[in-house]
Amino acid sequence: MSNSIKLKDKSFEIYLDEATIQNRVREIAIEINADYKGKTPIILCILNGSFIYTADLIRYFDFPVIVEFVRYSSYEGTESSGIITKILGLKTAVEGKDVIIVEDIIDTGFTISNAIKELKKERPASVKITSLLLKPDALQHDVHCDYVGFRIPNKFVVGYGLDYDELGRDLPSIYKLTK
Ligand code: IMP
Ligand code: MG
Repeated sequence: MSNSIKLKDKSFEIYLDEATIQNRVREIAIEINADYKGKTPIILCILNGSFIYTADLIRYFDFPVIVEFVRYSSYEGTESSGIITKILGLKTAVEGKDVIIVEDIIDTGFTISNAIKELKKERPASVKITSLLLKPDALQHDVHCDYVGFRIPNKFVVGYGLDYDELGRDLPSIYKLTK
């Protein structure tokens, strides 16, 4: 594992290493396991960034799950475009079901608040949210995240599913932009 990496024109330094992330994911799963005993929730993975967090998290669960994927797009380069497009929707009916939304990161909260709004139209029995990362200083929408991995400063990060112009998703650790 290297302490600094370069993706296209930008340099990044190590921020959360693989072991730190895995330990925290396991801790979150323990919390969720206690809350969903005897249930079969729908795990709603918000693509693309959450695919790795979702894959790791659900393998620590001790209850059965149904996994679904949705995809929105609001990011270009290192900044949110503020416009959201739904590219891929739900296949399973969520009416009367418990849903856990899985996000990689909540930045302004725009993506997740849209996802919640859309989902609630379909009358799920309950909706909870987990996000591996949360940038409290960037938050512009009233979003309550039930299970947060790490609260981080308002810095651009890559790795563990998160990308810079589609690169870096495969990195097992999380890196932050170097000034
Ligand atoms: P929001 O709508 O502003 O909350 O942004 C959420 C989405 O933007 C996340 O699901 C990520 O895909 C992306 N994003 C936000 N911050 C970062 C970052 O620091 N690095 C990479 N992607 C990010
Ligand atoms: Mg995302």
